[in-house]
Amino acid sequence: MEKKNIKWSELGFSYIKTDKRYISHWKNGSWDDGQLVEDNKISISEGSTCLHYGQECFEGLKAYTTKDGGIQLFRPDMNAKRMQQTCEKIMMPKVPVEKFIDACMQVVKANESWVPPYGSGATFYLRPYVIGVGDNIGVRPAEEYIFGVFGMPVGPYFKGGMNPVNFITTDADRAAPHGTGKIKVGGNYAASLQSHYEAVKRGFADCIYLDPLTHTKIDEVGAANFFGVTKDNKFVTPDSTSILPSITKFSLLHVAKHYLNMETEETDVLVDNLDIFAEVGACGTAAVITPIGGIEHNGKMHVFYSETEVGPVTKKLYNTLYGIQMGDIEAPEGWIYKVI
Ligand code: PLP
Ligand code: COI
Repeated sequence: MEKKNIKWSELGFSYIKTDKRYISHWKNGSWDDGQLVEDNKISISEGSTCLHYGQECFEGLKAYTTKDGGIQLFRPDMNAKRMQQTCEKIMMPKVPVEKFIDACMQVVKANESWVPPYGSGATFYLRPYVIGVGDNIGVRPAEEYIFGVFGMPVGPYFKGGMNPVNFITTDADRAAPHGTGKIKVGGNYAASLQSHYEAVKRGFADCIYLDPLTHTKIDEVGAANFFGVTKDNKFVTPDSTSILPSITKFSLLHVAKHYLNMETEETDVLVDNLDIFAEVGACGTAAVITPIGGIEHNGKMHVFYSETEVGPVTKKLYNTLYGIQMGDIEAPEGWIYKVI
């Protein structure tokens, strides 16, 4: 398969229109078979609930090229199940897990020439979504829906990639304690745009959200989860009802425990007790593992391992997780789905 003439190592996280995308419609109580289409525009009613009442959700996962030229997905069943939880919470029909995985596979296969080669440093990002559509004006669930999947080659989400970047805490909340923080709805991201913009304007990679109830605990790092490695080598990540249950976070908890023999804990991470950590980072599908050099909170900068060098445990976590995703390290059973 001839690949596109792209400078893979120079890619950032930007939209690229690839050849084909998948679209399926839900009407009268069921999903149709879905199909691949070339057009990247969707025509919907001006009354669609996704436009007015935020009845929509999305997911993010990646396809990786292995050393032998195969292509594989990392834990797509977890994304499918998380999307079902989101759909349930905002009263949209669930996409069956098999349909979700099949749609992702169809999109990868149809865009094989866009999937970055092994060793290029880039990966193929898939963006599944569900939107409420159809003629409507009242605040109620839509009667029709679209499930779509598109994808594109991407590089690092945060500019530094595997280099440390700095973050700043914000007073703003992206989600409420018993609201929509733990599901993947667009409203959470609309709520994050201004604080993200302010943080970037001040020279930080993004902002850190604190728990919305007390503002004393670390919740999330922009669009990624937070993790820390304590000075006595424990892998710690926040336990909160207002953060997205990150598949990368769950995978790192497993990697830390079973591959690196570390103790692990999901618990409160007090923003005034950052001294316990030797290294900290952000983790997510787009962010992969982004080492955090320092965090500014209340005007004071707390520097962790280094603002310029990656800590040794973060490096090991990254190498193991990325090795599993690329097929270089044996994955736990059920984590890898072969596409090609
Ligand atoms: N937190 C938020 C708000 C996110 O948008 C994401 C990205 O999906 C994550 C965390 C990381 O989740 P995952 O590892 O499943 O990609
Ligand atoms: C992801 O990591 O897949 C995300 O959804 C984060 C961001 C691009 C919104």
